[in-house]
Amino acid sequence: MRKLGVMKRIGLKTASLAIFAFALSTLSCWAGEIAAVRNCTWCHGTGAQGYTVAPRLAGQRPQYILSQIRSFHEHTRDNPFSIQYMWGAVASLGPYTARDLANYFASIPPRPANDGNGAWAARGRTIYMEGIPEANIVSCYACHGPNAEGIRDIPRLGGLAYFYIKARLEQWGQGYHSTPGSPMPLVATHLGAEEVEALASYLSFVK
Ligand code: HEC
Ligand code: HEC
Repeated sequence: MRKLGVMKRIGLKTASLAIFAFALSTLSCWAGEIAAVRNCTWCHGTGAQGYTVAPRLAGQRPQYILSQIRSFHEHTRDNPFSIQYMWGAVASLGPYTARDLANYFASIPPRPANDGNGAWAARGRTIYMEGIPEANIVSCYACHGPNAEGIRDIPRLGGLAYFYIKARLEQWGQGYHSTPGSPMPLVATHLGAEEVEALASYLSFVK
């Protein structure tokens, strides 16, 4: 009788220890994951939908997110905001965490910023789809896709914030870099202020 009682207690103790250990390991795993995401979302906004100068990451192509993390890491993406905010943010990010974060953010449904100038949207759509051949402006459609959804390491543009897209297009024209070998500096040098205004406005409304 007494022996059975002891056995029971030992059995229980092992079982509860096992449960405790399991709970601890899932808990610390979760906490690690949440901490990694929070390291990004305190700038990139709730649900990674973008906040002030930090662009939306939700719904972005995972390969593009990874290519940009690499560009910040290697200091090839060199505009003032990148240097000020992102060089430090990715400095100690390991490749596996980077990949997990890219897949995680890519899986969140993106919401359009809708913050462009509505009066310019139709003009922006025409440039996006057809370019302006006589001004050497190529169509964006060919690379970024019919609904600006992007593919592989070509980013989704649809629904990004007006100010972000505008700043990016202007920065390439000013000689800043992003990914080595990117076609964008060449594309952007042909865009005038009106084309940038129209394209950034149109794209901010694309769902
Ligand atoms: C201190 C604020 C801050 C933190 C923290 C931060 N970011 Fe950023 N991030 C920015 C800003 C600002 C930009 C825009 C840079 C620019 O304009 O070129 C940016 C740009 C990016 C881009 C480029 C997006 C695009 O569309 O080209 C990626 C990818 C990115 N961040 C990922 C991350 C990840 C992953 C983390 C967490 C490990 C993170 N960021 C943490 C502020 C931040
Ligand atoms: C030949 C293919 C190609 C064409 C044409 C092209 N793009 Fe891109 N675009 C890319 C690639 C690749 C990237 C990512 C590499 C980089 O960041 O430099 C990119 C990046 C961008 C980004 C940065 C998005 C972000 O999240 O930071 C913007 C904005 C952009 N393109 C706008 C345009 C517009 C507007 C047009 C049309 C006038 C256009 N692109 C035409 C290939 C193209």
